[in-house]
Amino acid sequence: MTDSLTIRRPDDWHVHLRDGAMLKGVAHHTARQFARAIVMPNLSPPVTTSAAGAAYRERILAALPEGMAFEPLITCYLTDNLDPEEIARGHGEGVFTAAKLYPAHATTGSAHGVTDIANIYSVLERMQAIDMPLLIHGEVTDHEVDIFDREAVFIERILTKVVRDFPQLRIVFEHITTKDAVDFVRDSGPNIAATITPQHLHINRNAMFAGGIRPHAYCLPVAKREFHRLALREAAVSGNPKYFLGTDSAPHSLSAKESACGCAGIFNAPFALESYALVFEEEGALDRLEGFASIHGPNFYKLPLNEGTVTLRKMATPVPESLDCEGTPVSPFHAGEEIGWRFEG
Ligand code: NCD
Ligand code: ZN
Repeated sequence: MTDSLTIRRPDDWHVHLRDGAMLKGVAHHTARQFARAIVMPNLSPPVTTSAAGAAYRERILAALPEGMAFEPLITCYLTDNLDPEEIARGHGEGVFTAAKLYPAHATTGSAHGVTDIANIYSVLERMQAIDMPLLIHGEVTDHEVDIFDREAVFIERILTKVVRDFPQLRIVFEHITTKDAVDFVRDSGPNIAATITPQHLHINRNAMFAGGIRPHAYCLPVAKREFHRLALREAAVSGNPKYFLGTDSAPHSLSAKESACGCAGIFNAPFALESYALVFEEEGALDRLEGFASIHGPNFYKLPLNEGTVTLRKMATPVPESLDCEGTPVSPFHAGEEIGWRFEG
């Protein structure tokens, strides 16, 4: 029986660190477990220039406790009329690691997103030429499409076309939630990969309605049917380098979640590795956690693997109902449960 697990220090390839007091309240949770993170740009206003990206990186570093080593990797928020030159400059200056496509109004903070993929074709052309990764929130926004079908329809209507038109572009299909996405990524070329969140490995859509409406189980893309969850688990533990860790940790205050119109987003950063370890343990695949958490991501991004290790110990870890994030209470994923692993550093 394994009672501890030591792996190469991991990275989080998709996280929302927010800004201001919330940034100070949440960034240390991510920095404690991960050496680097791809930080989402859906601030208000969004990060769309190299200067704004560089300033945000400084604010993230300043928000961390003294001496905490962490490298934020900044992303550029794509809008309908972004200049390809600005993106290329930001990438060349080492500010932008990647650019993020939010279809307009698909999710929290996406009001400035792209209204028609045709509007960013010149940007994608340029990104392909400079080998800059494109990160995609893959949901159509058409309200005629059932919310549980929006990812599958995005593959069919948009992603297939982008992959065909930009065959060399490196694409990360973010926070995939369906078997359709698992299959699409597996069957595409090596330049197409995906991140998988802990919540989509743990919960299916019933979690949102267990005995009443459960706002803390609501995120976007929304959790799907059980067979999708099982496909995601199989992909995550498969050892296939196309799938890697991206928490999509997305903190919102308790009051913003517990509301007549609650925000989408699950705050999983405080117990992220524990949560993934539980899944890999349940699947009998603890030996594959390191690939998923620490190796596949850097290889896809063409970045060096981290030095050093982290250790998880097998022991009961109670998760509090809420955590204080610089004065704002936020409910963490697994609130009120006991996870069987503890991150030791
Ligand atoms: C994210 C947020 O709150 O910024 N919410 C979420 O449900 N995942 C936005 C996003 O990544 O969709
Ligand atoms: Zn996200």
